[in-house]
Amino acid sequence: MYQDFKDLLGTELPIIQSPMAGVQGSALTIAVSQAGGLGSLPCGMLSIDQIVDEIMAIQAGTDLPYNLNFFSHQPVPYDEKRQSQWQHALQPYFNELKLESPANSSGSSRVPFSHDIADAIEAFKPPIISFHFGLPEQGLLKRVQGWGTKVVSSATTVAEAVWLEQQGVDAIIAQGVEAGGHRAMFMSDDLTTQMGLMALLPRILDRVQVPVIAAGGIGDSLGVKSVLSMGATAAQVGTAYLLCDEAKTSALHRAAIKSDQSLHTALTNIFSGKPARGIVNRAIKELGPMSDTVPDFPYASIEMTQLRGVAEQQSSDDFTPLWCGQNTLGCREVSAKVLTKALAEKIV
Ligand SMILES: Cc1cc2nc3c(=O)[nH]c(=O)nc-3n(C[C@H](O)[C@H](O)[C@H](O)COP(=O)(O)O)c2cc1C
Repeated sequence: MYQDFKDLLGTELPIIQSPMAGVQGSALTIAVSQAGGLGSLPCGMLSIDQIVDEIMAIQAGTDLPYNLNFFSHQPVPYDEKRQSQWQHALQPYFNELKLESPANSSGSSRVPFSHDIADAIEAFKPPIISFHFGLPEQGLLKRVQGWGTKVVSSATTVAEAVWLEQQGVDAIIAQGVEAGGHRAMFMSDDLTTQMGLMALLPRILDRVQVPVIAAGGIGDSLGVKSVLSMGATAAQVGTAYLLCDEAKTSALHRAAIKSDQSLHTALTNIFSGKPARGIVNRAIKELGPMSDTVPDFPYASIEMTQLRGVAEQQSSDDFTPLWCGQNTLGCREVSAKVLTKALAEKIV
């Protein structure tokens, strides 16, 4: 059993920067780790070569602990019929943007953790790996733990937390429904099971022995202090880092976060096929927020990415997944070092 966050994370501060696929690379990871927090690298949308390059960049940038993050969803086969229905629903937008009708292609940019990835990263013996959407199968999980790597995964319900503990994780991230990005949910797709962090954190703490990390809506040191005083071992913060100098958040995304548009976020499945929280834009209003027509994760993204590409060239965020949590008050245009230190102010 771990005594405290230092024992668990090996960091100076009880702050984990959320891995945020698509909006950050190793620069943010390194900056947060150098500041005393745990920097994370989202690997869910990277090729194996890119993952290796990014780990090498981290190791060149800091000797301090870092976290690698992978998706661990159960892949489902590409379904041509469902995809055609989705394409049909999107056809008016393809017409509007003068884009050719979408071609059927099963290519997907989000693949789950695998032995191939493990082969490529084993030599680095990453200190911590976090998984999103459950865990890989036991053989693969044990392989990673055999390197001495600590394994963490997110729970969105008490049942998920209990299951994760039974599988032998080192810590559980309680992901409140306020959180930006994809819901980690893996036991149910019923959104009515999703709880706010204020209710989820104590209920998970009540049922598991392993350390619990709080995530969702934490944007300043008061938020961090609150979750620590409730019994969390550390806080995982994502949205607040989206405007940092080292984040790759696009200009359109930054503008939406800074405006009152960010007062309205929703859980939507239209961009990827799985529910995720983003700022409400035209696509969410007209197609969602939750659609029954959408193909399974991650195939919904194929056509949406084409629409997004053309719309963004016209400076429109109509089809952009503006992933963002409910609390943007903590978003600051500063270096990740300044933000990390501010989040931990008067805590350690
Ligand atoms: C833009 C964005 C992208 C995200 N991508 C990932 C990801 O790739 N992997 C992951 O485990 N979590 C991802 N998350 C969710 C975070 O792990 C975490 O649950 C969330 O940031 C916490 O809530 P907050 O955003 O309100 O701080 C993402 C969140 C955001 C805002």
